[in-house]
Amino acid sequence: MAAITDMVDLEIQDGVAVIRIDNPPVNALSEGVRNGLHEAVLKADADDEAEAILIICEGRTYIAGADIREFGKPHRGVPLFDVQDVIEGASKPVVSTIHGTCLGGGLEVAICCHYRVAISTARFGFPEVKLGILPGAGGTQRLPRIVGVKKALEMMVKGDMVDANFALENGLIDALVDDLYEGGMAMAKKVVEEGRPLIKVRDANDKLEDAKKDPKLFHRFRRRVARKTRGFDAPESIIQCVEDTLIKSFDDGIQGERDRFQVLVNGIKSEAQRYYFFAERQAGKIPDVPKGTATIPIGKVGMIGAGTMGGGISMNFLSEGTPVTIVEANREALDRGIEVMRKNYLRGVKRGRLTEADVDVIMGRLTPTLSIEDVADCDLVIEAVFENMDLKKEVFTKLDAIVKEGAILATNSSGLDINSIAAVTKRPEMVLGTHFFSPANIMRLLEVIRAEKTSKKVMATVMALAKRLGKVPVVSGVCPGFIGNRILRQRGVQALKLIFEGSMPWDVDRVIFDFGFPMGPFAMVDLAGVDIGWDAENSQGDKNIHHRLCELDRRGQKTGKGWYNYHPETRFRTTEPLVEKLVLEFSEKMGKTRRKISDEEILQRCIYPMINEGAKILEEGISQRPSDIDVVWVNGYAWPVYRGGPMFYADTVGLDKVLAKLKAFQEQDNDDFWQPAPLIEKLVAEGKGFKDMA
Ligand code: CAA
Repeated sequence: MAAITDMVDLEIQDGVAVIRIDNPPVNALSEGVRNGLHEAVLKADADDEAEAILIICEGRTYIAGADIREFGKPHRGVPLFDVQDVIEGASKPVVSTIHGTCLGGGLEVAICCHYRVAISTARFGFPEVKLGILPGAGGTQRLPRIVGVKKALEMMVKGDMVDANFALENGLIDALVDDLYEGGMAMAKKVVEEGRPLIKVRDANDKLEDAKKDPKLFHRFRRRVARKTRGFDAPESIIQCVEDTLIKSFDDGIQGERDRFQVLVNGIKSEAQRYYFFAERQAGKIPDVPKGTATIPIGKVGMIGAGTMGGGISMNFLSEGTPVTIVEANREALDRGIEVMRKNYLRGVKRGRLTEADVDVIMGRLTPTLSIEDVADCDLVIEAVFENMDLKKEVFTKLDAIVKEGAILATNSSGLDINSIAAVTKRPEMVLGTHFFSPANIMRLLEVIRAEKTSKKVMATVMALAKRLGKVPVVSGVCPGFIGNRILRQRGVQALKLIFEGSMPWDVDRVIFDFGFPMGPFAMVDLAGVDIGWDAENSQGDKNIHHRLCELDRRGQKTGKGWYNYHPETRFRTTEPLVEKLVLEFSEKMGKTRRKISDEEILQRCIYPMINEGAKILEEGISQRPSDIDVVWVNGYAWPVYRGGPMFYADTVGLDKVLAKLKAFQEQDNDDFWQPAPLIEKLVAEGKGFKDMA
C-alpha cells in the first residue's frame, strides 16, 4: 500500500483506486488527512489503471468531522474546499463507503462524492451547531439539495444524527451494503459498468422546489425552535444559509456560508462550546486512575428507596438492560414508586419512543421487595433514602452486613459527608457517592463522589458504568453540597440578599434568564419546592421568608403558587402582590434601606460568588480541574453552554476584573462572604486565568 501521508494510503485494487484514511480515534479531517486525501484523489484520477475511486476509513468510523482542535489556530495545509473540489471534479466516479459516524466535515466530504454507500449501523449528521458553528464546507448548500429544505433545517439546527435507513430514504446514500469494503468496491464497479453519470449535488436543484412554494416555511421553523435556540448564534446563521439556497446561486450561497462561518468560529460563543466539547470528555478522566484500571462487572443493581430519586435512578439501569432489585419500607410506597416508573415509561410510548411491549420487557427487569436482604447478591447497591445522616448510616450498616463481599455500596446523597457514611462499614474502600440529578432518568450529570478511602477500582468501575448509562460523570471530593450544590448555595445567598436590599424576585430571575439560564433562582426554587428542608412544626416564618411562604401554602409549582403564581394547566408564571409585600416586610424587619439595584450588579452578585466558590473548590482539591466545574454547571444546572461554565466565563470577563469586583462588594457589604479565594489572587498576580491551570 502506498502511503500518501501518515494518515492516508492509496492502492489500485481490481481497477479501483482505494483511498484509505487512518487517523484514530475518529478519522477527523486533520491537516494530514486533508493533504493526503487531496493528493491521493489527484493521483488516482490521473492513474490509467483506476476506473473509479473508493474512499474508505480504517478503525471505528468514517470521517467524524473537522479536527476541532485546529479551530482558532492559523490554518495549515490544504483547505477542505480544495479537497472537495478535486473529489467533485474528478473525471472518474468517486464513491465513499461509510461506517460509524459520518459527521460534519466528514459528511461534507461524502456528499461531494458522486456516490455513497453505507453499512446499516452507520449514522450521519451535522453536529456543528453544538460547537457554535455551522457546516462550513458546503453542508448548508448541499444538504437541502439532497434531503430538501425542511429536513436539512431539522438536521443542521438540531445537530442530531440520522440513521442509515433515513439516509437511504432521503438520498444521503445510494445503497446499504453488508460489507464496508466489498460493498464499496461493488458500487464503484457498478457505476463504471453501467456508465452512470458523475452526480454533483451542487447542480441538483429539484429538492429545493417545495420550499420555494412555501414562503412561510422559514418563519414557522424559526418560531418552532425559538425557545431551544435562544441565546445561540449558530442556529440563525444556519437558517440564513439555507434561505440562500432558494435565492442565490450555489457559489454565492457557498460564499455566504463561508462568511457566516468565519464570524461564528471567531466568536466567543463557539469558543465556549468547543471548550465544553473537550471539557466533557476530559471530565471522565481521573489522573491517578489510568485507562485500563481493572473494573468490577456490574450485572445486577440494588436500589434502596423507591421515591423520586430511587425510581429515576433505577430507570437508567432498567432501560439499559441491567436488572434492579428495589427495596422500600412499606408496600404502599413500593407500589407507588413502581407505578411512577411505569407511567414515565408509558409517556415514552405516547411519544412513540417505546412500545407497550418494550415497557413490559423493561419493567420485567425490576424486582420489587420489602426485604433489604434481597439485595445481598447485587454487584452495586445505591442508597436513595431521605437525606438524613443517621438514617443513611443505619442503611449502610445493614448493607455492609448483608451485601456480598466485593460489591460496591453507593449513596445518592446530594451533599452529606460520605467519609462518615463509609466509616460505619468494614469496607470503606467500596463506598462512594453517586449523586444523580432529578429527574434522574433524564438528567445526564452524575457527580461521582470519591471519598477518602474509595478504591481506584471502584472509581474506574463507576466512571465506566456512568458512560454505559449515557451519563456525564464528574468526580467530586467530599464537602457539603459537593461541587454543584455548594456553588448553587452561594448564588442563592446573594439572590435573597438582593431582594431584601432592593430588587424583586422577578428582577433577579429576569437578569439570570437573560444571561441564558432557562430560569432564575426564584423560579427554580418554585420548581424544586419551596418546602425543601422545611419542617412545619419548627417553622420560623418570622425570620425565614421561605418558611413564611410555606406557612402560606406557597410551596412552589406543586401547590400552584410559591414565589410566583402558576396557571393550573399551562404553568404560566405571574407575579404576586402578596410576595412583593412580604419582601418589603422582611426588608424592613432587617433594617435595610432599599435602593435601586442595576441589572449589572444583580448579575455580578449572583455569578461572581459562584466563581469564587469554584476557586475554593479547586484549592481544596474537591474538583480535579476548572473545566469539571463547568461540566457540572452546564449539565446539572443548565448554565448556558455558549458561556462555557462559570470558570470559563470568569476568564472571558477577566479574572482581574472579577477579583476587583469581589473586593468592591466586600467593602460595600463589609461581609466575609466576599473574601476572594487565594487561588484567584494568585492567578491574577501571575497574569493567568483558570484556563492556564494544568
Ligand atoms: N476533532 C478532534 N477530536 C475529536 C473529534 C473531532 N472532530 N471528535 C472526537 N474527538 C476526540 C475526542 O476528544 C476524544 O478524545 P480523547 O479520547 O482524547 O478524550 C476521542 O476523539 C473520542 O471521542 P469520544 O469520546 O467522543 O468518542 P465516542 O465514540 O463517544 O463518540 C463521536 C464519537 C460521535 C465522533 C464524537 O466524538 C463526536 O461527536 N465528535 C464530534 C463530531 C463533530 O462535532 N464533528 C463536526 C466537527 S466540525 C466540522 O466538521 C466543521 C466543518 O464544517 C468542516
